[in-house]
Amino acid sequence: MARIGVLTGGGDCPGLNAVIRGIVRKGALHQGHEIIGFRDGWAGVRDRNTVELTSETTAGILHRGGTIIGTSRTNLFKDGADGTAVVRDSLSELELDALIAIGGEDTLGVAGKLTREGVRVVGVPKTIDNDLSGTDVTFGFHTAVQIATDAVDRLHSTAESHSRVMIVEVMGRHAGWIAAYAGLAGGADVILVPERPFQIDEVCASLQRRHASGRNFSIVVASEGAEPAEGSGLVTASGELDAFGHVRLGGIALMLEREIEARTGFETRMTILGHVQRGGSPTAYDRVLATRFGVGAIDAVSDGDFGKMVALRGTDIVRVTLEEAVGELKLLDDEFFATAEVFFG
Ligand code: F6P
Repeated sequence: MARIGVLTGGGDCPGLNAVIRGIVRKGALHQGHEIIGFRDGWAGVRDRNTVELTSETTAGILHRGGTIIGTSRTNLFKDGADGTAVVRDSLSELELDALIAIGGEDTLGVAGKLTREGVRVVGVPKTIDNDLSGTDVTFGFHTAVQIATDAVDRLHSTAESHSRVMIVEVMGRHAGWIAAYAGLAGGADVILVPERPFQIDEVCASLQRRHASGRNFSIVVASEGAEPAEGSGLVTASGELDAFGHVRLGGIALMLEREIEARTGFETRMTILGHVQRGGSPTAYDRVLATRFGVGAIDAVSDGDFGKMVALRGTDIVRVTLEEAVGELKLLDDEFFATAEVFFG
């Protein structure tokens, strides 16, 4: 029997509670471990802010969005701080044997750093952006795609009624997975992703061709991280940074609305989906994946297999090293985008 800490870090994501429930059910009920939740990500580790996670306290949470233990973007290594010492002291004071960190590139990056310092950590891949390497899919992605697809479907009828161009901005900081999947599923006419800087003239020309061929409306799906090609002079991001030094995004749709309407004369409207994509109940697919990840993570701890992240490969849950997971972002693959492109215009 061991005492195991659990935290959720970074942006929240549908399925976090299903992971927690999976860890607790298998860990406490079947393996006899004690599971302690840290509140608000790494902040809870620093502040010894904990909550006991039992079958009772985690009952009825499978379908609930968000995270019952809270999350934050707290970075214990900010400004050169010794985050490892903070974590070590906290784990030893609370008599914890290991830690399960559920998070994306930043949280798992910290987990990888701790592993190199000998802290016993297992990671679980979370992000609606689906941009973590080492796993075919992250949980939360499927739900975000479904929400974005529903939005694109709804925008279709109003676009058609008003003969408008509709811009839909979805999340996706570095990778265009949500835009590409929701765009393909929703029949978008243009999809803009961070991996492919766009020329605004080409976007407008493509919309003009489409409208010249008799269509009266268009749907453009853009990742928040999509960028105009260099030299276009069009700026989208604000200068604001988060604790990990990421620029706060959101605004590409506004620029596209203005530029497309001015350059084509087509009446244009934009919708920024924002955090709607991260809220609410996870899809059945994400509940299942998150549950499997939770069970896989506690199994890794019980096996003493630290420094690993649970991952989906094909239909199997496997373990990969945290280094592999955070070494490089998983960007949209060309083949997938080429399929989406078949339906452009
Ligand atoms: O990393 C996931 C993500 O949803 C990104 O797509 C987005 O840029 C970011 O989180 C938003 O973060 P916050 O909730 O801190 O505004």
